Amino acid sequence: MKRAVYPGTFDPVTNGHLEIIERAARIFDELIVAVTDSSGKSPFFTLDERYRFLVECTEKMGRVKVMKFSGLLVSFCQSVGASVIVRGLREPNDFLREYQMALMNRLQSDGEIETVFLAASTSYHFVSSSLIREVAQLGGRIDKLVPEVVSKAFQERLRG
Ligand code: COA
Repeated sequence: MKRAVYPGTFDPVTNGHLEIIERAARIFDELIVAVTDSSGKSPFFTLDERYRFLVECTEKMGRVKVMKFSGLLVSFCQSVGASVIVRGLREPNDFLREYQMALMNRLQSDGEIETVFLAASTSYHFVSSSLIREVAQLGGRIDKLVPEVVSKAFQERLRG
């Protein structure tokens, strides 16, 4: 069984992430979407909220499971028996950091864990979670860029 992990902070999950999840789930036997606490990034949504959004958005997708993790990504992959990390590339600027992380993760796992890159569809090249947070907090429209559960969560949070 080929099990892969798609890791991220997902603060919040966007339609760009979901597009990568759908495509990766067609390639592997099981895809674990791994949401990390990322305390260094001071996330807007709590880990439990980010986890819940992902569960709701992916519950109808076969072969997708959502899990939380903290610490080293490679250790998490080993603990769930995954040999592949999936990452989305939106534009050339993503490449350098992704390349560095892929090599570091390969080294940390003694070559056992490979990273596979999927090219994000052009409709989502400009989307990032921080841009979504900024626009939403300033009252802008994000409904075409995030799943419904996320736009509702922003509305509730901003209503106070
Ligand atoms: N569609 C939309 N947005 C996307 C996207 C896509 N396909 N791909 C990436 N993004 C966005 C993310 O939402 C995020 O936005 P933001 O920075 O504005 O909030 C940004 O691009 C960066 O995403 P990413 O590189 O995935 O960062 P991340 O924080 O979500 O994930 C980890 C990074 C969690 C994978 C990495 O920090 C990690 O592995 N941490 C564990 C500790 C560890 O092992 N460290 C050593 C790694 S070598």
